[in-house]
Amino acid sequence: MTAKSGRESEYFQGYSGILCDDLRFEMLGDGLVIHLEQQPNNIRYKHSYSEHHFFKRAQQSNQALLKACNNKQRSIKTVLDLTGGWGMDSFILACHGQTVTCIEQNTLVHKISAYSLHCARAIKHSAMAANRVEMIHADSVDYLRKHAKSGVYDCIYLDPMFPDHKSSAKPAKGLQILQKLTHNHDIQTCFELALAKASKRVVVKSPAKSVALFEDKPDLVYREKTIRFEVFLIASHENY
Ligand SMILES: C[S@@+](CC[C@H](N)C(=O)[O-])C[C@H]1O[C@@H](n2cnc3c(N)ncnc32)[C@H](O)[C@@H]1O
Repeated sequence: MTAKSGRESEYFQGYSGILCDDLRFEMLGDGLVIHLEQQPNNIRYKHSYSEHHFFKRAQQSNQALLKACNNKQRSIKTVLDLTGGWGMDSFILACHGQTVTCIEQNTLVHKISAYSLHCARAIKHSAMAANRVEMIHADSVDYLRKHAKSGVYDCIYLDPMFPDHKSSAKPAKGLQILQKLTHNHDIQTCFELALAKASKRVVVKSPAKSVALFEDKPDLVYREKTIRFEVFLIASHENY
């Protein structure tokens, strides 16, 4: 583990480079590297919002995520991400000007994302987007019930974990590690509360071919090769 001083070390005090079982980590100046030691192949996953490839991809303006979470008038300013995970989707939305509150229930996943965000705030090219994201360690059902006043968030976003499709290739490294560390918690309630609390829309991300998670029919669907975004409009007068 790279020695860190001051605030950096506070994030992982007591972990000594080991997250749990077969997961190790190294802290870097712009994020972390996580090693999952497993048979037959170990996984090395770098988590950083400032890292060149991810940051460049985050800037692309034609992503379905951006179309799903905003409208043509660009009047959707605030997003509540109920399934924060590695915070990648939250950070991408922030790169395009939205203010995002990112909730994650799993302590380790939250710590890793919060540490990378802390690093990104200190790096010139990523600071502006990073400052638009707030990360909160909480269960989203609790958060929605206790802290999310109706109408405060224009868009509420959900990206639940899905089981691997039998015929699909292995998921990306970051997702493989998330699958090991965490799970969905009360996603149906999250969705119902989201519909009650969002002022403009609720967006649900799913694998392109998966069955719909909820009974409600979406008003809009945006697709990419492997994923789709279902949009549930709240305000009937809202322009897409
Ligand atoms: C597929 S991942 C999200 C990935 C994320 N969109 C990203 O860009 O990195 C789903 C995450 O939702 C979290 N989660 C599931 N149920 C939750 C709940 N009730 N409250 C907070 N987080 C939850 C899981 O712990 C997991 O980290």
